[in-house]
Amino acid sequence: MGFEGKVALITGGASGLGLAVARQMADQGARLLLVDWNELGLQAARTSLGAAVLHGDVSEESVATGAIDLARSEFGRLDVLFNNAGIDPLKARSVVDTEIDDWDRVIDVNVRSAFLMSRAAIPLMRAGGGGAIVNTASIAGLKPAGDEAAYSVSKAAMVSLTTSLAVDFAKDGIRANCVCPGFMEMVMTDRRRDLTDEQQRARAEGAAARVPLGRQGTYEEVAKAVLFLAGGDASYITGAALVVDGGLLLR
Ligand SMILES: NC(=O)c1ccc[n+]([C@@H]2O[C@H](COP(=O)([O-])OP(=O)(O)OC[C@H]3O[C@@H](n4cnc5c(N)ncnc54)[C@H](O)[C@@H]3O)[C@@H](O)[C@H]2O)c1
Repeated sequence: MGFEGKVALITGGASGLGLAVARQMADQGARLLLVDWNELGLQAARTSLGAAVLHGDVSEESVATGAIDLARSEFGRLDVLFNNAGIDPLKARSVVDTEIDDWDRVIDVNVRSAFLMSRAAIPLMRAGGGGAIVNTASIAGLKPAGDEAAYSVSKAAMVSLTTSLAVDFAKDGIRANCVCPGFMEMVMTDRRRDLTDEQQRARAEGAAARVPLGRQGTYEEVAKAVLFLAGGDASYITGAALVVDGGLLLR
């Protein structure tokens, strides 16, 4: 039971990758606090995983401080912070074709949230003798995807934030790493709303054809990389960006 006795806070834990990580950590004995603005998904996770939940927008400071207050009152400690919530609006495209509000929203939800959560969490982690932060970046943060400027910039910032956290808090026994997924099995919830089923199928087929391993990754596969970085087997790894993309970045 690799996470027995550990407390993990997961943002975006109500669906997709966040939920897969929550399930795997629960299977390994972790106690969980999930933060998301999808209330239905949160309630389902509370029932199935026995997780503590907090409903709210992770780009708001009060949600970050409220989450850490809850971790302190419910569990008295925090060992793992997984900054994973994110959006990728279909209408935010090239720099010229991105509304200013959409730019700000993507940066706030994808990056400001991780800054706020880390800022609130580190004192509690430090008090417990250390911990592990894992951020969800993307291969788009290493090599920008076309027509996705705000998203690519937000994920490059997550790679950079990871290294700042790693350098600044190593002395406190806190490691910080990120995962850079390629295509995972579903487009993100906010984007899914704007795509027909047909378009989603075409996206999946196009993705599979471009990936050297010949398919999209499952959430379970990427979650295993997150658990590795969050757990004791990665005790000498900090500041790393682990690419989990079936070889896509090599193309
Ligand atoms: N799906 C992919 O192909 C892919 C590829 C690379 C990276 N990623 C990254 O992986 C992460 C998870 O994506 P996913 O595919 O699981 O998508 P998802 O939409 O299933 O999960 C994201 C979760 O974040 C929550 N969320 C979004 N904005 C929020 C906010 N402001 N406040 C609170 N909760 C919020 C959503 O409700 C959702 O539960 C994201 O950071 C995404 O950028 C996804």
